[in-house]
Amino acid sequence: MSHEFLGVSVSVTSDVYEPAEDSELLAFHSRNLKGKILEIGTGSGLAAILNAKTNPSNPVFATDTSPTALECARKNAESNGARNILFVQSDLFSNIRGKFDAILFNPPYLPTSAEERISGPLNRAFDGGEDGRETLGRFLNEFQAHLAPRGTLILIQSSLNSPEKTLSSLQSQGFSASILEQRPFFFEILYCISAQRIM
Ligand SMILES: C[S@@+](CC[C@H](N)C(=O)[O-])C[C@H]1O[C@@H](n2cnc3c(N)ncnc32)[C@H](O)[C@@H]1O
Repeated sequence: MSHEFLGVSVSVTSDVYEPAEDSELLAFHSRNLKGKILEIGTGSGLAAILNAKTNPSNPVFATDTSPTALECARKNAESNGARNILFVQSDLFSNIRGKFDAILFNPPYLPTSAEERISGPLNRAFDGGEDGRETLGRFLNEFQAHLAPRGTLILIQSSLNSPEKTLSSLQSQGFSASILEQRPFFFEILYCISAQRIM
């Protein structure tokens, strides 16, 4: 399966998250960010590749827990001529050192019960735990240590996993958070949230 967005064309195998509206929201709103960029959970690599191609002097780091996704994203970066991306296998920030000017994440956010889990690496693309916030909650506790003082966080969120909790968590950590765009769909509203530290 392949997907084209703003001049970037990515292909995925059946065990890698196929780009959809949430992926495009993340890629669109992060494409012009400058500096050292980190995308957590890159999947096909769409957002990291678009940022890297738009800003060839950006050092871009793209992670995933899934080696299959990383291999797929690496191939997509190559076929799109994006040479300024380093791919790192990492569970959130476990293998990441240093601070970044922007951190991007489209987390697995579907509320998922134990019976709804699927086997294989694709499960991690969707499975947000019982309340859809399992990975997101961990991320919100960890990202601060890796965001440069004037850095920007870009996060995708769904009405299915309590965006108001994310906004209040960011605000209570001293961030100013705003919704850059929201898009209503049949069964959810997608949000693209941006946050910066209040200086
Ligand atoms: C919803 S998909 C988004 C993929 C891609 N960023 C996009 O927007 O199309 C979530 C991605 O995060 C990865 N992921 C899930 N949990 C993760 C974790 N703890 N650390 C790093 N990546 C994770 C999944 O393997 C999957 O590729």
